[in-house]
Amino acid sequence: MKKFYLTTAIDYVNGAPHIGHAYEKILTDIIARHYTQRCDDVYFLTGTDEHGIKIQKTAAKKGISPKQLCDENSQKFKDAWKALDIDYTKFIRTTDEDHEKIVQKIFDKLLKKGDIYKHSYEGLYCTGCECFLNPKDLTEDGLCPDHLKKPEVVKEENYFFKLTKYKDTIIKHIKEHPDFIVPEFRANEVIKQLEDIQDISVSRAKSNVKWGIDVLSDIEQSIYVWIDALSNYITALGYDTENPSENFKKYWPADVHVIGKDILKFHSIYWPAFLLALDLPLPKHIFAHGWITIDESKMSKSLGNVISPTSVLESFNLEHPDAFRYYMATSAPCGRDGNYSDEDFKEKVNAHLANSMGNLLNRTLSMLVKYFDGEVKPEFKLSGHPELVSGSEKLQKKALGTIQIVKNHFDNFEIAEAGLEITSLVDAANKYVQDNVPWTLAKEGKLTECGQVLVCVLDVMCIIASLIYPYCPNIASDMAKQLSFDLKTKLDDLTSDNVKCGQLISKENIKPVFLRLDSELADKSTKKGA
Ligand code: MSP
Repeated sequence: MKKFYLTTAIDYVNGAPHIGHAYEKILTDIIARHYTQRCDDVYFLTGTDEHGIKIQKTAAKKGISPKQLCDENSQKFKDAWKALDIDYTKFIRTTDEDHEKIVQKIFDKLLKKGDIYKHSYEGLYCTGCECFLNPKDLTEDGLCPDHLKKPEVVKEENYFFKLTKYKDTIIKHIKEHPDFIVPEFRANEVIKQLEDIQDISVSRAKSNVKWGIDVLSDIEQSIYVWIDALSNYITALGYDTENPSENFKKYWPADVHVIGKDILKFHSIYWPAFLLALDLPLPKHIFAHGWITIDESKMSKSLGNVISPTSVLESFNLEHPDAFRYYMATSAPCGRDGNYSDEDFKEKVNAHLANSMGNLLNRTLSMLVKYFDGEVKPEFKLSGHPELVSGSEKLQKKALGTIQIVKNHFDNFEIAEAGLEITSLVDAANKYVQDNVPWTLAKEGKLTECGQVLVCVLDVMCIIASLIYPYCPNIASDMAKQLSFDLKTKLDDLTSDNVKCGQLISKENIKPVFLRLDSELADKSTKKGA
């Protein structure tokens, strides 16, 4: 694997980031970090989607210019991602000048090719979705099923894209590439939608939508958000209709677009069609994650239950975002909806990160200091030892097997499932300690066996630190420091022999890698609206 190019959806800037937006960025960051452990060249793109009627209206309501609104809110997304340690390569804004210019050229190219044509149209426009809706998809009361709002009747002369021309090729592509849409069960929904697909409007009259990119050859029209927004995945790399950059040639096609299930249609139908029209290869995977609910209810401004990610960090007084990242990433199986609740958050991270993982490292290192002054002696190393302490080989095998299982899960974008495997390895290591009682071995004078048990656990802890790193980069880094282990070790270079012989650690340097969330503090947690 030479390169790995992955992207998130770009968020609308008509509001501040909430934990649904954060969920996607965390998943993507975890995938990016995992692949840096497998290949050298990972490119991770995120950003903000800044044009359209929704942003125009929000700015007007606030009495500020759309650009001012975009600048303020785009910065809020950047700040939130910084607080969550989202380590992206590039943050694109659709108001970036170079993006706007290339979008104009893309539109022009498709117009000249005959794939875009002008057409008078009357339709039902949902501002929430920023698209025209098919009347048959509305609720019984005539509302948009996602936003529960009545769509506007819009009668305009717009430019249309010949989506129908590409319908059969896309259906064929989906059928021939069962891993194109992840999870696979969503592919059937997409094929159904494709069956009665129509050509789509790709521009709006400037008189109605002022806040958009102008069509080069027609100043009366602005380019409609989806062709603008989706193109970010190639404009960010320096795609140009005449002369694509070296960066573009290197990274395109994307290895995965990570998006929410609500915008799968745009990514698995519209986007492939635009790419086919531009004679460009299609992305390898589109991973549609589920939605995050709050205390089992849909997050919405009207319900007043919108939670900002930074408010969670603040209310639990977290010094780094690892616990929140871990909780969110493991909140739902691949593609399914997940839920956030303060109580569950506290319980889960206390159990998994503090009690199971953190304590295991802490106890093992403390015993190494207590019995051996923190020294890993050569005779403690199990490699080549004929008389293994009971269960050692099994634990080592499980640890090495877990690396492969985790890799396989990541190849299928099963981030929560991979997390569960890591937890199960931690549990197995805890059980190994309980079964072999190193403190009793020490009391009985069986010091070599005691040392073997401890070092076997520490070798496995290096593997655990590596595997948990994408989820919890700060905790993993503290673990690695205490283990004198190089966290940059590639997954394929991990063995059952990771800690070095010699002085490993002194008493003063043993610190809990994750403190239980203080229940008093946690109880004081207040949800601050995003
Ligand atoms: N701007 C478009 C995406 C264009 S991509 C070329 C958009 N923006 S959005 O701000 O509405 O949503 C951004 C991402 O956040 C989407 O993938 C969406 O599914 C995701 N989420 C928004 N609310 C969410 C939850 N409650 N839970 C999980 N993800 C959610 O759509």
